[in-house]
Amino acid sequence: MIKAAIIGATGYAGEELIRILLRHPQIEICDLVAKIERSTLISSIFPWLENKLDMECNSRIDVEAISKNNDVIFLALPHRVSMEIAPSFLSAGMKVIDFSADYRLKDLNEYQKWYGVTHKSKEFVKDSVYGLCELNRENIKKAKLIANPGCYPTGAILTCAPFLKEDIIEPDIIIDAKSGTSGAGRTPAVSLLYSEVNGNFKAYKVCDHQHSPEITQELQLQAKGKVHISFVPHLVPMNRGILSTIYMSLKKNISVFEAVDVLKKFYQGEPFIRIKQADMFPEIKDVRNSNFCDIGIKIDQKRLIAIAAIDNLVKGAAGQAVQNCNLMFGIEETMGLL
Ligand SMILES: NC(=O)c1ccc[n+]([C@@H]2O[C@H](COP(=O)([O-])OP(=O)(O)OC[C@H]3O[C@@H](n4cnc5c(N)ncnc54)[C@H](OP(=O)(O)O)[C@@H]3O)[C@@H](O)[C@H]2O)c1
Repeated sequence: MIKAAIIGATGYAGEELIRILLRHPQIEICDLVAKIERSTLISSIFPWLENKLDMECNSRIDVEAISKNNDVIFLALPHRVSMEIAPSFLSAGMKVIDFSADYRLKDLNEYQKWYGVTHKSKEFVKDSVYGLCELNRENIKKAKLIANPGCYPTGAILTCAPFLKEDIIEPDIIIDAKSGTSGAGRTPAVSLLYSEVNGNFKAYKVCDHQHSPEITQELQLQAKGKVHISFVPHLVPMNRGILSTIYMSLKKNISVFEAVDVLKKFYQGEPFIRIKQADMFPEIKDVRNSNFCDIGIKIDQKRLIAIAAIDNLVKGAAGQAVQNCNLMFGIEETMGLL
């Protein structure tokens, strides 16, 4: 069995990770930690875990004991917090899978610009591997530190990468994405109150969201050149899921069947990518609670419109982290996820 610690176990992403690992035949949860006042049974925080996981969630991180007990550390922590905690585990030789953005951006000036602080763990950034399994599988297998992708970037990058790589579209893309409220985490905020969200639908951080540089960075690697994106996120009154409508300009006329074929060939054999037939489009309910990313295509003259759906807490966070972990430990990539 692979032994795993979850730090940030009381957040939405941490809770989802517990849910997945409990049914994983080869990973065992050995330590749970969160920023709580005193250590307490995890089932007192999440009652659904009663009789399923009778384990204390610790209020402090004992790096030595956790490193001794475990093979892998999942950090389901906020941005800026992970980089304070990851280095001690990495220095102890542990494999770390970080859910935050702290190790995603290779350009540390960009990190400072978007996250408002100087990076405190620069030495580990250059060797971190961006954990989008479908694009980086071989590097993930050898990685010590995984920067698990952001929820919005997962759907957007998976959708645009094949068209950029095949040089079919202009490197100027509009990403119009809608997320449920769990994307913002479990920490309370007025903007996430039921009475603010229910019956409402709004755009926020228009072309100013911290996931923009991450999407750009990864798409530029695929395009091998500059890519400009206009990324407009929205908050919709649902618990989970992200639906992204992505507008791309074709370099030459192709049919919807040809566009679908590009995706099908690119993702041939990929267990978690489902390409819809021409003119069929995914819905949130098709991917809810699953590690799938579903993509549908429409051609409108020289515009290629793609619609992608994921569950932000699974393919956009905990599921993808487990997919990465499976690859890092050389076990079946889909284990615990189908
Ligand atoms: N939610 C999503 O859809 C999603 C998707 C992709 C990536 N992510 C990323 O995953 C990470 C976790 O997100 P989330 O939505 O689960 O957030 P969350 O619900 O706010 O949970 C954050 C967790 O971190 C713990 N924590 C905060 N500061 C800590 C500290 N100094 N020491 C130890 N534990 C600390 C919190 O403990 P307490 O509860 O005790 O405060 C909680 O367990 C974030 O970086 C987020 O950007 C989230």
